[in-house]
Amino acid sequence: MSFWIDKKVIITGGAGFIGSNLAHRLAKEGAKLTLVDSLIPEYGGNLQNLQGLPSDVRLNISDVRDRYSLRCLLKGQDVMFNLAGQTSHMDSMADPFTDMEINCHAQLSILETCRHVNPDMTIVFASTRQIYGRPDYLPVDEKHPVRPVDVNGVNKMAGEGYHTLYHDVYNIPTCSLRLTNTYGPRMRIKDARQTFLGVWIRSLMSKKKIEVWGGAQLRDFAYVDDVVEAMLMAACDSRTCGRVYNVGGFGEIISLLDLARVMVRVYGEGEIEIRDFPDDRKKIDIGDYYSSDEALRSCIGWVPRVPLERGLRLTFDYYQKCKEHYL
Ligand SMILES: NC(=O)c1ccc[n+]([C@@H]2O[C@H](COP(=O)([O-])OP(=O)(O)OC[C@H]3O[C@@H](n4cnc5c(N)ncnc54)[C@H](O)[C@@H]3O)[C@@H](O)[C@H]2O)c1
Repeated sequence: MSFWIDKKVIITGGAGFIGSNLAHRLAKEGAKLTLVDSLIPEYGGNLQNLQGLPSDVRLNISDVRDRYSLRCLLKGQDVMFNLAGQTSHMDSMADPFTDMEINCHAQLSILETCRHVNPDMTIVFASTRQIYGRPDYLPVDEKHPVRPVDVNGVNKMAGEGYHTLYHDVYNIPTCSLRLTNTYGPRMRIKDARQTFLGVWIRSLMSKKKIEVWGGAQLRDFAYVDDVVEAMLMAACDSRTCGRVYNVGGFGEIISLLDLARVMVRVYGEGEIEIRDFPDDRKKIDIGDYYSSDEALRSCIGWVPRVPLERGLRLTFDYYQKCKEHYL
């Protein structure tokens, strides 16, 4: 019998890319779901992402900055996947205070609320590889210094730090997963706010050239189902409590230019244009990055299963069917 049957699970950012994929999987596993999302138009929340979920899934359109609604929402839940976040690095530089309110301040109020109303709830926090900044060595493991290069990275680092602290001091069972670049169905493709991959998909589907800045940068990419699996396994296993783990991709390390070429091949058509990095982006670019996620693999036995080409094919198939809701 699945661990998740009748478990009360709350997902902040539940209408977003990763949150909604998690919701679809958890609904199949029999969990009782509450999704919290502010649906601010510039972020990745999209009601289309929730199409096909059972009718008993509750969507609460509220903001995690609102402490009063959090009290009611968090009471009685067994597990929280804490994914609500401002994800754009550029927006975090243009409007640093909003990024701080959501990725830092609101994270502290979520944990304070848990401490008062539900200290036994298991929490999995979506952290990010961005907090490492420009790597000193590759692959980057969890011992690598954290030295974010943008406001978003600093605030996510604080958000993660609060989760670890609330475990260490108050014994709240938290675990943080530092996700690498994640892609798949239900991601935002309207613009590059969530990931450049989104805008590349949009370009291909709109018969425009993919713009590759630089192109030599190495990256790893994780298919969203693999990330969802890592989150579920981390939540089920008490050995992850108080810990921080990297979550990497299937193991293929690829330059951005080669990625663009693979995308054109998988999509079946398209053109690529190589451009110099714009100055404002160059300042916050992290250069090459790929993860070592050996620690998570050896702790809970998680293994990513979806190779890049297959993941891209599944992603294109999804948007071919319902792109009007995303463009
Ligand atoms: N996608 C990636 O490659 C990636 C990589 C590393 C970390 N992450 C982290 O994973 C989490 C989910 O990212 P995603 O890619 O699904 O992005 P997303 O933008 O699709 O999801 C975030 C969701 O949070 C919601 N949200 C934002 N601010 C909110 C607020 N104040 N109150 C309530 N809801 C709010 C948004 O509406 C959105 O639905 C984020 O915390 C992000 O930092 C993502």
